[in-house]
Amino acid sequence: MWLLPSLAWALLSPVLGSELSVQESLLLKSLGLSTKPSPKTPTPVPPLLWRIFQKRKTPPPMDKDPLDACRVEEFNVPGNIIRVLADQGPFMPEEQPQGWLCLRKRLFFNLSVLEEGERLTMAQLEIKFHHNSYHPSRQGQVFELRLFQTPEVSPPGVPEPRQSPLVEQSFAQLHKSLLFNLSAAAKERRTRGGSLGLILEISVGVIGALGAPRGLCSGIDSFLDTSLLVVTLSQQCQAPRRRRRRRRRSAGLPPLTPSNLCRARRLHISFSDVGWENWIIAPQGYLANYCRGECPFPLTAELNSTNHAVLQTMVHSLDPQGTPQPCCVPVRLSPISILYYDNSDNVVLRHYEDMVVDECGCR
Ligand SMILES: *[C@@H]1O[C@H](CO)[C@@H](O)[C@H](O)[C@H]1NC(C)=O
Ligand SMILES: *[C@@H]1O[C@H](CO)[C@@H](O)[C@H](O)[C@H]1NC(C)=O
Ligand SMILES: *[C@@H]1O[C@H](CO)[C@@H](O)[C@H](O)[C@H]1NC(C)=O
Repeated sequence: MWLLPSLAWALLSPVLGSELSVQESLLLKSLGLSTKPSPKTPTPVPPLLWRIFQKRKTPPPMDKDPLDACRVEEFNVPGNIIRVLADQGPFMPEEQPQGWLCLRKRLFFNLSVLEEGERLTMAQLEIKFHHNSYHPSRQGQVFELRLFQTPEVSPPGVPEPRQSPLVEQSFAQLHKSLLFNLSAAAKERRTRGGSLGLILEISVGVIGALGAPRGLCSGIDSFLDTSLLVVTLSQQCQAPRRRRRRRRRSAGLPPLTPSNLCRARRLHISFSDVGWENWIIAPQGYLANYCRGECPFPLTAELNSTNHAVLQTMVHSLDPQGTPQPCCVPVRLSPISILYYDNSDNVVLRHYEDMVVDECGCR
């Protein structure tokens, strides 16, 4: 309770305010952000990211293994950050339509939003249409979809040399959403620090016919957009793993008994209190908790102390002026997932270690 008024006061005070902004940038940095994002044209959260977020919010049953913060179960790949990058490529009206060619579009995904040191483990392209499935009007008619990768640097106006397509598939009907595994292409571009440029072509073909009359393309009108889902592993996850921690919900904190012994205390952090509600989509806040209390002589087992702390309390009891009591500090923390907009308005789902104090101890 004491936190909120003092925080509001601190934000208004010029001196403390600037100190707070130093703290804020430190925290943003640890969240992998250069500045506080201010989404300009926030896109809706992709349903898949919501589902993964919701699943991670619910702790697994006690008999199941704890969630691995550095693995995305849904795709069975290593990773703790999932981004959905919006396509930034233009349509190419000068080149369409030519008879059987219904749609030609440049796709562009800027991979430099990934931080230095992040390892890309998966990339999946999604092509979306308004309608669930468009039935071709004639028997034997198929849609042909091709994806070409554009060279790293291709000045506007210079046609790319014709290469073999990255993806080539035929569909009897187009579904609302088509998914393509572009992991290999994205990894290769990522290692060279570049961006992923593609050309998408959709044409109609009629089996046994040469070319097709105009009008067959009408179903493509429902073309909506494309996005690239990218899973990466931040350096936090590449470091040697600390001992696996049982993810325990803070709801299981010991009941509030009046005691000044060291223990975890409830602290709910609301992102709107720190002015972050614009870019953090979910959660709106969470139970972060903190440690407070005494570590008096004799230390009992409940205080989760180290041998060193036991000796320190003994010395403290003999010489209270010269040696302080051990400190009451977090000894077990657990992660949370945060869904937010990054500095380029992409939706990001990221798993952060050490956000919740589960247990305290005298150290
Ligand atoms: C890609 O994004 C970075 C920063 O996020 C920006 O500096 C760069 O200009 C972008 N590149 C292109 C080609 O848009
Ligand atoms: C995607 O492609 C990569 C390499 O091309 C492959 O290792 C991976 O298993 C593929 N993923 C799926 C889900 O097919
Ligand atoms: C010490 O750890 C036990 C479980 O290992 C826990 O129940 C207890 O609350 C912890 N003590 C403190 C002060 O958090």
